[in-house]
Amino acid sequence: MIYFDNAATSYPKPPEVFEAMLKFMKESGGNPGRSGHRMATSAEAMVGECRNALSKFFGLKQPERCVFTLNCSDALNMAIKGIVQKGDHVITTVLEHNSINRPLQQMADDGFITLTRVNPAEQGGWQVEEIIKAVTPKTRMVALTHCSNVTGVINPVAELGKALRAAGDNITYLVDAAQSAGVVPLDMEAAQIDLLAMPGHKALYAPTGTGALLIGSRFNADKIHFWREGGTGGDSTAPHQPAELPYRLEGGTPNTMGIAGMLAGLRFIGKIGPTATLEHDRKIIKHLIGALESDKRFTIYGTKDISRKAGALSITIKDRDNAETASILDQAFSIAVRPGLHCAPYTHKHLGTFPTGTLRLSPGYFNTIEEADEVIKALQEIAS
Ligand SMILES: Cc1ncc(COP(=O)(O)O)c(C=O)c1O
Repeated sequence: MIYFDNAATSYPKPPEVFEAMLKFMKESGGNPGRSGHRMATSAEAMVGECRNALSKFFGLKQPERCVFTLNCSDALNMAIKGIVQKGDHVITTVLEHNSINRPLQQMADDGFITLTRVNPAEQGGWQVEEIIKAVTPKTRMVALTHCSNVTGVINPVAELGKALRAAGDNITYLVDAAQSAGVVPLDMEAAQIDLLAMPGHKALYAPTGTGALLIGSRFNADKIHFWREGGTGGDSTAPHQPAELPYRLEGGTPNTMGIAGMLAGLRFIGKIGPTATLEHDRKIIKHLIGALESDKRFTIYGTKDISRKAGALSITIKDRDNAETASILDQAFSIAVRPGLHCAPYTHKHLGTFPTGTLRLSPGYFNTIEEADEVIKALQEIAS
């Protein structure tokens, strides 16, 4: 199988990742912080090591502000539902995944918040001024994506961080790093991001069931209302959830197997270098664009400027149904891609591709130019 669906989840994972998970399972599979014995303390040490490594990777100086979650949606829900209050105004964009769209739309429909969904002028990417123009005195949160999961366009989140600080100190800045974490280097403190949500299972190479919410040092974490209460392994006499991070937001046994995988994934990125994946993805995307852009049967969505793109390319083929094409690619050519709306309906309305969507090609670090050539050949064959 040629796997071009890395924007959904990365495959394959580096062998180091599943070897670390197996080793953890075999040798130290205790419950972190729950008991004093060696297996529990070694599990706790591994979880702490991953917290340190993940925090360092994104420029977060206080690792206790790194909260492990189930996935990126979980981290985004924790931030949105934990912070936004009745009467607040929230700004987002049409380029979001449903894990931002749906919680905010539900709050707006319930009359709880007012919502501005910025529709940028450029296809697939927003400009700082467009977001700042939407700020009102009631704006409590700006929640948007670093990198579009449909077009792969990288948005200027660091520039927006500075502009938002100038616009008002009460605005919480939440960035969805689902498609950028592990691919596009980001120092969240320098970018003045309050909350950074990410999955572990995409370009951090961890298994599914992993993610994190990173809370910037200037943000008052007491403002996040916890909604998952339970055991933390700490003081069990306390009648309420502990106030201190990360336990305040981490009730229940964590996904230790997954976190062992995430630690190995972070070490893998450390070994290949933080920009290796981006450079590699861009080489493949550039190759795909080069082969398809002058052929009138194909339409490419979003900028073709490779310096502003990460690992996703959306296309359509003239007179071909995306779902059917994906099925032919799978069945006849052994190529995995994702057709349709990619959980981003407003993005496709913005692109003019709603409701049928596009065909998303998302290469990853383990794909080769030779595989890209096979994908191009298959697409040309289907087009004709
Ligand atoms: C931009 C974006 N945000 C959020 C998510 C949700 O991630 P998860 O499936 O880890 O919850 C995705 C998943 O593809 C995504 O692409």
